[in-house]
Amino acid sequence: MLLALASCTGSEPSTERPLVPDFPPGWRYAPAANPLRAVHGMVVSTDSLASAAGLGMLQAGGNAVDAAVATHFALAVVNPEAGNIGGGGFLVARMADDTRAALDFREKAPLASTADMFLDAEGRVTDAGVLGHLASGVPGSVAGMRAAWERFGTLPWSDLLQPAIRLARDGFVLGPRHLESLESRADLIRQFPSTAATFLPDGEAPEVGTVFRQPDLARTLEAISIDGAAAFYRGWIADSTVAEMQRGGGIITHEDLAAYEAVWRDPIVLGYRGYEIITMPPPSSGGITLGQILNIVEDFDLGAMGWLSADHVHVAVEAMRRAFADRNYYLGDPDFVEIPMERLLSQAYADSLASTIDLHSASDSRVFNRVPEESMQTTHYSIMDAEGNAVAVTTTINSWFGSKVVVRGAGYLLNNEMDDFTSKPGVANQFGLVQGEANAIEPGKRMLSAMTPTIVVDREGRTDLVTGTPGGPTIITTVFQAVTNYIDFGLPVRTSVDAPRFHHQHLPDRIYYEPHGLADSVVQELRRRGHVVEERGEMSGDVQSIQVGDDGVLLGASDRRRGGRALGY
Ligand code: DON
Repeated sequence: MLLALASCTGSEPSTERPLVPDFPPGWRYAPAANPLRAVHGMVVSTDSLASAAGLGMLQAGGNAVDAAVATHFALAVVNPEAGNIGGGGFLVARMADDTRAALDFREKAPLASTADMFLDAEGRVTDAGVLGHLASGVPGSVAGMRAAWERFGTLPWSDLLQPAIRLARDGFVLGPRHLESLESRADLIRQFPSTAATFLPDGEAPEVGTVFRQPDLARTLEAISIDGAAAFYRGWIADSTVAEMQRGGGIITHEDLAAYEAVWRDPIVLGYRGYEIITMPPPSSGGITLGQILNIVEDFDLGAMGWLSADHVHVAVEAMRRAFADRNYYLGDPDFVEIPMERLLSQAYADSLASTIDLHSASDSRVFNRVPEESMQTTHYSIMDAEGNAVAVTTTINSWFGSKVVVRGAGYLLNNEMDDFTSKPGVANQFGLVQGEANAIEPGKRMLSAMTPTIVVDREGRTDLVTGTPGGPTIITTVFQAVTNYIDFGLPVRTSVDAPRFHHQHLPDRIYYEPHGLADSVVQELRRRGHVVEERGEMSGDVQSIQVGDDGVLLGASDRRRGGRALGY
């Protein structure tokens, strides 16, 4: 087990907890320590209706996995820009009997894909990997939910889909969040008639307060509720998907769909200051890269540096820089490339990287660069039930509304996950990630992800924190901050989720931070040390966390950045 290789002997955090720290001046949220409290079970997701769907399963006697399946399908209806059946994702679970599980339902490159399919005649990367039919990997979500249910579920499969079917058939009331995302992508959506017909009924985004119905999606979900995953990968839904591909120049075939399987993998188990961190292995880079960052910062007394101080940000960023350089070079689908996982996660390797950190001056990313340089939307939910089973799922169609293609007749949006592959080594993808050959496109291969559903186990062996977030590469650094905000700085879960975040991904060589997310004096000090520091206008992440209090009470915090909801009973 990787715990044996990762560091588990680091020093204990030096700060006393819990103190609610001051946020930097001007930060958008006031510090608060009032998470949702619940005794039995809890669902924290990006949408209140989806949380309610999961909670209903817990109250009906289902477990956390039943609730996850119900939440997942409901998100495909009420959070269509990210929740999905046309995408994929990863599930990490720690069951009450200490069974640890990691489910890979990541999309796969269609069998007809080629390494240079997104290059034009001059060798430049086109936008076909982001927009339209060619951008889609073979969806994994339905197979994933079915595999999770077959292994751990307790309620009848069909029951789990009923809330989603009702929400699609009878509709739900559109809120400002839905409209904001629809309006921001309306011009792209208009390019695809079936998508426009679904989301822009009279040619425009509907108004806030409109009851929004998706009858085609309701029929699709109903078929899945009756025939399971086979309904999606074979039969009329598969026919619709293939017909849609043929209409728009896509390459997903019946053979691709029929061959898709979700895969159980061994979760990565890291040791960090005496805690265990259970997280996702490849084809997500999340677990390895999170582990490398944690292993490096474990060589420093982060807690003593002061939360969001220049020293804290400097050390964390230097660790992120080094870990992302390795990510972008070594990581890819483990079924296709050899990943030196044990070496990357060994404490000896982390120590050697930590020893190259100068506490007073920024390193140069080029020193760590192994990829030759040529010049969103995701959702997460965290669930715990009365037995103590814990589930963390991050799932995506990549960009908001994925490829922007709705499958005509089946009413579901397809992902644009092909952009997560390396279209051309050294050329940045839509997240600015500069990746290498290990993540090149090959038929049947899974594209590298950053999704990092994570469960923290405390020193007494109790599940302590269930967490995750969307955000492309910032997923890894956001989960790192969720873990260290808790373990090193003792932040209460509500404060930790509301707190400002920073990010570094090796290239581009700069620290991003949210507006007013770092004090001016800290920014100045970081610049003095040689960092390029940039305030990025957009919000970073959408964390959904459950923390278990010392008294066993569940404390839930859904990120205020996009208006999700924790519900419990
Ligand atoms: O798998 C990945 O890493 C990306 N496709 C995730 C995209 C994402 O989080 C976009 N949402 N903000």
